[in-house]
Amino acid sequence: MRKDVRILLVGEPKVGKTSLIMSLVSEEFPDEVPLRAEEITIPADVTPERVPTHIVDYSEAEQSDEQLYQEISKANVICIVYSVNNKKSIEKVTSHWIPLINERTDKDSRVPLILVGNKSDLVEHSSMETILPIMNQYSEIETCVECSAKNLKNISELFYYAQKAVLHPTGPLYSPEEKEMKPSCIKALTRIFKISDLDNDGILNDNELNFFQRTCFNIPLAPQALEDVKNVVRKNMSDGVKDNGLTLKGFLFLHTLFIQRGRHETTWTVLRRFGYDDDLELTQEYLFPLLKIPPDCTTELNHNAYLFLQSVFDKHDKDRDCALSPDELKDLFKVFPYMPWGPDVNNTVCTNEQGWITYQGYLSQWTLTTYLDVQRCLEYLGYLGYSIIQEQESQAAAITVTRNKRIDLQKKQTQRSVFRCNVLGARGSGKSGFLQGFLGRNLVRQKKIREDHKSYYAISTTYVYGQEKYLLLHEVLPDFEFLSEADLACDVVCLVYDISNPCSFEYCAKVYKKHYMDSKTPCVIISAKSDLHEARQYYSLSPLDFCRKHKLHPPQLFTCNTAEAPSKDIYTKLTTMAMYPHMTQADLKNSTFWLRASVGATVFAVLGFAMYKALLKQR
Ligand code: GTP
Ligand code: MG
Repeated sequence: MRKDVRILLVGEPKVGKTSLIMSLVSEEFPDEVPLRAEEITIPADVTPERVPTHIVDYSEAEQSDEQLYQEISKANVICIVYSVNNKKSIEKVTSHWIPLINERTDKDSRVPLILVGNKSDLVEHSSMETILPIMNQYSEIETCVECSAKNLKNISELFYYAQKAVLHPTGPLYSPEEKEMKPSCIKALTRIFKISDLDNDGILNDNELNFFQRTCFNIPLAPQALEDVKNVVRKNMSDGVKDNGLTLKGFLFLHTLFIQRGRHETTWTVLRRFGYDDDLELTQEYLFPLLKIPPDCTTELNHNAYLFLQSVFDKHDKDRDCALSPDELKDLFKVFPYMPWGPDVNNTVCTNEQGWITYQGYLSQWTLTTYLDVQRCLEYLGYLGYSIIQEQESQAAAITVTRNKRIDLQKKQTQRSVFRCNVLGARGSGKSGFLQGFLGRNLVRQKKIREDHKSYYAISTTYVYGQEKYLLLHEVLPDFEFLSEADLACDVVCLVYDISNPCSFEYCAKVYKKHYMDSKTPCVIISAKSDLHEARQYYSLSPLDFCRKHKLHPPQLFTCNTAEAPSKDIYTKLTTMAMYPHMTQADLKNSTFWLRASVGATVFAVLGFAMYKALLKQR
């Protein structure tokens, strides 16, 4: 909302502009007034909308045209005052004042006007009959009011309307010509409806209406008031209320009604609560709250955020198959201004047999976005209304910034739950296959992936000692010169070579020596395509000897040319190494260590699924 409001009064001489201002300030009618009142500022706490308000008088006798034009361009709202007993002063409203003001303001950002008929104490009849056609002719006229500086009638109302015209403008919401809400307003309110419709049945039931009311206005609706609202809608349309709840149509109707009755501050309160600015765009502060991320720290979603995302998933997984069909996914992202996930996402996370993103895959993709691009994650959470539904200060409340990795290394433990593994290897060595294997896809399944739907990331969960962790695999392009610090930073490294290609190991050896030999990052050599015939590598050392020499874990055989999903063991190993980088190779070679890690994996994989099923049943 604006920080202050500047109200300018104009009109023919002697219509009572100065008297109106003096009456407001002194609460009595001054018999004598100066030609022009000094500019006065009303402090925020005594104005109805709690914003400082400047009131500026104009006097033809004291001011030049140039001064008048300057004031017009500075004003946020202009009151054109006429005297109800003076026909000429009314005529001048359209013949002189409105054109003069419009000439000096942009067509797209016209200042709102208020027509003020003063000296109502002098006449029996209202001037409304003459004024209404003018109101219909000029959409920039916000409202009109008849008042009397002498009787102090409607004086504070007049300044309240002026304030309201600035703070809660009708322009962006409503088209007076068409007598309906503008498309951008309908769009915003539709999004708000979707977010507030917590069970996504297209109806706001009493619970949802109460929650909505409490979030927007900080007070619950009395049961009777709730019924009254529904009755108003029922009376006006047949499909505004369904199953005793408000449909989108009914919801939009109510807001049209508010606006038509001059209560557009109600609609504005709702819009602002959901993050909209005066142009009905989501504000930067709403979408991108400040979040400091020190170096060597990563970003993860916290428990509360996962619960929220789970509820969003639930509300869109209509057929309860624990996956989002293309239609369900489209519906989920209807509250976004664009579709955030492209087809590559389906090749970044786990999908079901139909290729649809599963519950687990959905959470994985969120985890990936949070890790790689936290600003984007904040933006997306903003579209979903996270801070509103979860009653948080901002979207930033969803994020855990992990502690500096150096402290983790010193303390030999970590609280992180997302680990990054860079996968490097020569062209064609099997990196992509290794990534897709993590998503449970064998070679036959991988062959179906379209080239333009490929992803250089794969993320899913593994279980280390029964704890669920995310492992994020990143395929690094093998162009040597382009490897930047950021490309190389990670928690564990996979160096992949193709056992059937004698030229492929050299790349691994080179990368290792150049980038990782002296780093603390654990490295694993992957012997990919282990189903093929092994060729002798053209390199001074065999892969096994190379590993011995550099005290690395022996090369790990891997193939995705399997009948079923490729084995998950290697990914659990990688996660374990990422979590415990200080463990020596001897520790890691110890078979019971791996056994404990992988037993945990099965137990928890089953439990995790069972728990999700149980949650679904509860609903
Ligand atoms: P300029 O500064 O010359 O442009 O005039 P103004 O619009 O500021 O008018 P001003 O307040 O000086 O009032 C003009 C005359 O109208 C004064 O004699 C006021 O006392 C009288 N007047 C102002 N308001 C009212 C009103 O509500 N009722 C009656 N009866 N007289 C009013
Ligand atoms: Mg005056």
